Amino acid sequence: MSPRSILVTGGAGFIGSNFLHLLGEVRPDWRVVNLDALTYAGNLENLSRLEGRAGYAFVRGDITLESDVERAFQACAGPVSVLHFAAESHVDRSIQSGVPFVRTNVLGTQILLDASRARKVERFLHVSTDEVYGSLGASGSFSETTPLAPNSPYSASKAASDLLVRAAVHTHGFPGIVTRCSNNYGPYQFPEKLIPLMIANAGEDRELPVYGDGLNVRDWLYVRDHCEALLAVLERGKPGEVYNIGGDNEYPNLAIVKLILKELGKPESLIRFVKDRPGHDRRYAIDAHKIRAEIGWEPRFTFEAALPETIRWYRSNRAWLDRVRSGAYRDYYQRQYGAPGAVQAPLPPDR
Ligand code: NAD
Ligand code: TYD
Repeated sequence: MSPRSILVTGGAGFIGSNFLHLLGEVRPDWRVVNLDALTYAGNLENLSRLEGRAGYAFVRGDITLESDVERAFQACAGPVSVLHFAAESHVDRSIQSGVPFVRTNVLGTQILLDASRARKVERFLHVSTDEVYGSLGASGSFSETTPLAPNSPYSASKAASDLLVRAAVHTHGFPGIVTRCSNNYGPYQFPEKLIPLMIANAGEDRELPVYGDGLNVRDWLYVRDHCEALLAVLERGKPGEVYNIGGDNEYPNLAIVKLILKELGKPESLIRFVKDRPGHDRRYAIDAHKIRAEIGWEPRFTFEAALPETIRWYRSNRAWLDRVRSGAYRDYYQRQYGAPGAVQAPLPPDR
């Protein structure tokens, strides 16, 4: 399958921008339309290499507005596939206020589904998360048939959006596919998430806030591996199916933080145990047998190599990090696109 146009939502965020860079390298002939509202998490500096490139168009727009989604479809040519990243994505913000999560993740997904069905898209890949399965004890892993049991407003809104895709498939024969990936790390991640936050704080000799006892476990995947998996599913996945994505790479948070400090040559005395996140999921672990067997995807990057590489990226892109941390990154696109829109989740007060 070779789509003539691909409509990507949320392409100015962490995974979306990495995906657009991958496409630029491996599918340079595809026409790409990037629909992004540029909330606090959208950063056009992530995509400066693609600006002005033939076959790439950016549409600033909100997936909860039918007229914005329509404008994005109009920028496409020929048969279209949709790759849906746009979401409010930070658990701590969702604990602060769930409404922006329901608006974008649930309402926005339904609006995008309806418009995509009207446009008879070839394929609709919905990018979801392992967090929809809830929390694991010390053993076991999530398979595609594990019951959904989300625990945060973020994961509940993602589970709702997964089910809306399922309903479109079941009711309308819509060509929807859902992927559920574990925690990603790599370049361009907003420094509110564990790994870039710890790298940024350690670099400035600031405290590293570890929630609770630091023994919550996440299953980490390098973002490039996730993006390659998404491209493989887009091209070879079966409509109506769900595919888990993960690389069998579990680490307790405290171990990650210590690895980062060691790599940066900073003392462990920077670690500060802080009040736990309410409802904090204890452990995530992905069983990715299905995508390996049916799609033939395998992760290519080891944590031992890709974590130091990620740390090097943030160190050698200090200006990017400083502009995100100071808020200056917003000037870049405000000059072109005006003030940020209303779609925004508030920051927790203590961060
Ligand atoms: P992100 O927060 O970095 O980026 C989200 C992007 O969506 C931003 O560019 C933002 O401007 C845009 N956006 C938000 N609301 C919008 C709206 N109403 N209309 C249009 N655009 C809007 O997120 P991310 O970490 O890149 O995650 C991308 C997707 O992958 C999300 O759906 C998330 O649930 C999923 N996911 C993330 C991870 C992870 O570890 N980061 C793991 C598994 C799945
Ligand atoms: P996060 O990057 O927010 O991803 P998610 O909650 O979606 O898994 O957090 C990853 C883990 O790190 C999670 O167990 C919470 C923990 N954490 C901290 O201990 N301190 C922090 O400052 C942050 C942001 C996260």
